[in-house]
Amino acid sequence: MPYAGTFRVCQPGGLSYRDALAEAVALPALLATMLRSLIEAWPEQVYRQPLVTTRFLGQRTTFVCDPAHIRSLMVDQAASLARETFMMRALVPALGSGILTADGPHWRAQRRTAAPMFRPDRVQGFVPAMARAAQATRRRWEAGSPAGTVRDISAEMMRTTFDVIIATMISGDDQLAVEPFGRAVETYLGQTSWKVALSMLDAPDWVPHPGARAGARAATYLRGEVSRTIARRRARGEPGDDLLGLLLQARDPETDQPLGDTSLVDNLLTFVAAGHETTALVLAWTLRILAEHPEIERRVIEEASGLGVDPAADPAAVERLTYTRQVLLEVMRLYPPAPLIVRRAAADLRFGDITVPAGESVHVPVYALHRHRLLWDTPDVFDPDRFAPERAAGRDRYAYLPFGAGPRICIGMGLALTECLVILATLLPAFRFVPVRAEMPAAQFRVTLRPKGGIKMKVVPRHVR
Ligand code: HEM
Repeated sequence: MPYAGTFRVCQPGGLSYRDALAEAVALPALLATMLRSLIEAWPEQVYRQPLVTTRFLGQRTTFVCDPAHIRSLMVDQAASLARETFMMRALVPALGSGILTADGPHWRAQRRTAAPMFRPDRVQGFVPAMARAAQATRRRWEAGSPAGTVRDISAEMMRTTFDVIIATMISGDDQLAVEPFGRAVETYLGQTSWKVALSMLDAPDWVPHPGARAGARAATYLRGEVSRTIARRRARGEPGDDLLGLLLQARDPETDQPLGDTSLVDNLLTFVAAGHETTALVLAWTLRILAEHPEIERRVIEEASGLGVDPAADPAAVERLTYTRQVLLEVMRLYPPAPLIVRRAAADLRFGDITVPAGESVHVPVYALHRHRLLWDTPDVFDPDRFAPERAAGRDRYAYLPFGAGPRICIGMGLALTECLVILATLLPAFRFVPVRAEMPAAQFRVTLRPKGGIKMKVVPRHVR
């Protein structure tokens, strides 16, 4: 439920002393709400209106919730946007200045250089590694009780997608200690909500918070491990055809320059951080939602079984999972893994006759956009047929943004969708998923959109009655 009173809707104008005092008194409650889930702090108007301006601790934020304004913001006025300070504070210590966190010419050069690695033909080359990771999960689950084993599906999917990212990024390097590396990624990401909240409260960087020291240690460890992995690969003499190999060989098409060592570390860590949790969340929410919709689940299983071929042997076959793809798109409408896109106006922005002055924050509340009362029929209902070609054709492209839009659209979109298809097609025909709790878990903003308390389900092999 939207929480009345955190982001207060306001008219343009200054902040009175009385308002500032009232906000200061309410600070502990604000912090608690933001840490519980930032989405609860949004005003209810973001689900009903095209543009909503709020004031929060004296700072104005404009929420852009209308497809035409979003297009204007993310495409036409993209050159007037900068990364938002609070996201930078959360991510830069580990990710440095890679594609996700850089701005300006440094971002453009890295994006140009890395773009060819994510072309559809390259992604198809990664399908066998994806299939192997999915099969490893399948074997692990088959080794459980034949009557079913209760598992936290979101943790399980994190493990599977982590295996995929390691296999696609640094295949054949058995010196990277995968488990401690995975734990360090979790430790780092786990404390980023504090950094976001404190930064939004304008607290200086040195203010301590739970997990800060462990987060800093994790960042140092992760960067060191990735540097050493790169050094080992260079010493091997041949780059290889995984993501690291492709990054080592990549050249900026305009300057013919390769990426420097710091950029290599920044971007490999960026791909791990941006790519594995987001994808795991789509899969976990999908398995949970399908448990509520047996008819839809049956269609997905039929489609996977109808392929008649293992994706590892025929990567192009994955393209035929068209209904499963619709299901994934609809899951990402209701549970977008990246529920908020934030920018700072580097120059004045115009939305019709409204101006957002340079320096202010602009938010695209993707979670609210996907449930917006003016844009979607029965917005809270799960209906994968919304993404059938004939129904999707009439929809504004900027009403649906799980991967963002404009020049900074997700570079890994094709890779993520293919990975979800391969993993679902491997696991769903083999297991039934029985939720331990009847109600859907609450969605919590943790930079990504996580299920509160995980998703516990009994995983039952299908061949057992
Ligand atoms: C379902 C999975 C995924 C979702 C929902 C997702 C979502 C997003 C979104 C919304 C953005 C735009 C953020 C913004 O505009 O501020 C983004 C950017 C990005 N994503 Fe993804 N992502 C996913 C998977 C991946 C994967 C698998 C990779 C790489 C292996 C990846 C790498 C990146 C990078 C590098 C950027 C920054 C692009 C730029 O600023 O130029 N993502 N992602």
